[in-house]
Amino acid sequence: MTLKEAKIYIQKELSDYYPKNEIESFIKIIFSDVFDLSSVDVLMKENETLPRKAKLLINEITERLKTYEPLQYIIGFTEFYGLQFKLSPDVLIPRPETEELVDLILKEYKDPSGFENPKGLQILDIGTGSGCIAVSLAKNLPSAEVFALDISSKALETAKSNALKNNIEVTFIQEDILNDFSDNVAFKRRLTSVASKRRLTRVASKRRPTKFDIIVSNPPYVTFSEKEKMQKNVLDYEPELALFVEDDNPLIFYNAVCRFARHHLSSEGKLYFEINEQYGKEIKTLLLSSGFSDVEIIKDINGKDRIVKGRLI
Ligand SMILES: C[S@@+](CC[C@H](N)C(=O)[O-])C[C@H]1O[C@@H](n2cnc3c(N)ncnc32)[C@H](O)[C@@H]1O
Repeated sequence: MTLKEAKIYIQKELSDYYPKNEIESFIKIIFSDVFDLSSVDVLMKENETLPRKAKLLINEITERLKTYEPLQYIIGFTEFYGLQFKLSPDVLIPRPETEELVDLILKEYKDPSGFENPKGLQILDIGTGSGCIAVSLAKNLPSAEVFALDISSKALETAKSNALKNNIEVTFIQEDILNDFSDNVAFKRRLTSVASKRRLTRVASKRRPTKFDIIVSNPPYVTFSEKEKMQKNVLDYEPELALFVEDDNPLIFYNAVCRFARHHLSSEGKLYFEINEQYGKEIKTLLLSSGFSDVEIIKDINGKDRIVKGRLI
């Protein structure tokens, strides 16, 4: 099988399952991320014969795509904010709208020449999943100290390997954000014990935060009633724990994170949320009634309410 034949094979096999543009994007990812071939390489080498191993791999990927398994899970990684992230079935596939959230934070704390302002920020990512937010912030704000929390130990394992893979340090904490963390001393003790268990000298140092400058969260926000409108590839493969909330309490995580932020953000510290487009106004009201000012709803590239941010006063 030549490269050209491989392309035609994938197009033909998947034509009953996906729209044409999606198949083209799969082909691009398979050639570039699995076989390390650019679009130019593919054109130049289209008559070259693929080794038997590559042919078998293409067959396997195509068959798995037919079951609507997301390509990112099949190949085991994805790109986010220019970095590579390993994926496992225990973590959500990072979405482009979350890149917009990271980009917004970086624009507010880094000037166009790349200078961090201020330096040495203490940042906490709540519901870190693959670690995409925490790792991208740590990579782009080298003087910051980044913490990331999730309830899922398996998600944290993946996030840890993503920190390693991208050569940065993040302190990971396994916690349920729905617990009561109003006692700042207890939470600090928790951070200390995590740090000493893992012998993270950097955290065990004097720079351990008393308060965070930035808290960011992309918590579960899809209601169960929205589930039936969702695509099979999300429903069958992405972790339910990362996605869904009860219809009668859709803002449960926003309430919990706001409560947490009131106790653990420094004065003037900022809170950034990714949101369900349906709840922008409610989340804005929640922040205003929780003591935040400069509260703004920000739209994503598709014009949907996607981020809410505020500053603690
Ligand atoms: C929507 S995913 C976000 C993942 C990642 N931050 C991203 O943007 O792709 C929400 C994350 O919250 C975590 N989570 C769910 N319930 C939680 C809880 N009670 N406490 C802490 N984390 C929780 C899930 O395990 C999941 O990783």
